Amino acid sequence: MGRSGVHAGAVLGLTPPVGITAPGWTTDTAAAWVRACARVIAANRNYLTALDAAIGDADHGTNMDRGFAAAVEKLDETPTGTEPSAVLRLTGMALLSTIGGASGPLYGTFFVRMSKACESKAELGLGDWAEALDAGVEGVVFRGRAEAGDKTMVDALLPARDALRAAAKDGLELAAGLAAAAAAAEEGMRATTPMVAKKGRASYLGDRSAGNQDPGATSAYLLLKAAADVWG
Ligand SMILES: Nc1ncnc2c1ncn2[C@@H]1O[C@H](COP(=O)(O)OP(=O)(O)OP(=O)(O)O)[C@@H](O)[C@H]1O
Ligand SMILES: [Mg+2]
Repeated sequence: MGRSGVHAGAVLGLTPPVGITAPGWTTDTAAAWVRACARVIAANRNYLTALDAAIGDADHGTNMDRGFAAAVEKLDETPTGTEPSAVLRLTGMALLSTIGGASGPLYGTFFVRMSKACESKAELGLGDWAEALDAGVEGVVFRGRAEAGDKTMVDALLPARDALRAAAKDGLELAAGLAAAAAAAEEGMRATTPMVAKKGRASYLGDRSAGNQDPGATSAYLLLKAAADVWG
């Protein structure tokens, strides 16, 4: 997957419309991302569940796998249309209605808020992606009330958001921005290991939650890595 390569406009010597300087994510790219998420979550289902077994109730892998399988099923039966926003919305709704527990409403909100942020855009460049991620992460924080350092998915999402914001400010290519976001999420995910959980079921363990990587931070990294891989 990736960029569509040389644009017909360039080949024919046409001037691109004002304001369009680089190709971005279309509905097809957004759908490819959701499918890549489903694949990477399925491949890591047992790993995510094992992480959740250590500090939670051993269902994060099965929860996420069920949710993304449902999202792909919805994608298969729904015309994709012309807005990436529609794909993101459909995914969020599928996650909301099929994943129980904490992560369903959180990831559902993440995709729905991302979708809202890029409504009526046919193509998403780095600035659009950064705004969408901003909105998605804000939704997760609003819904779950977790702060940095609470040992949750937010510890992977916040650094990714910051990295993408910085990339947009520095005028990087979208591919480089998404790669930086995935790298920041990975670092954030690893940093959850020594943390003591303050939110969710893992917080019932108190100090005994330290020493284990947070399952939600791990799935958040996998989703961002999938985005970088789809466009890289
Ligand atoms: N309030 C919260 N804000 C952000 N993320 C949270 C919150 N509570 C839990 N999480 C994330 O959800 C993950 C667990 O998701 P899971 O699918 O296992 O749902 P769950 O079993 O209902 O969750 P939990 O056991 O944490 O209540 C955690 O690893 C953490 O990253
Ligand atoms: Mg769980």
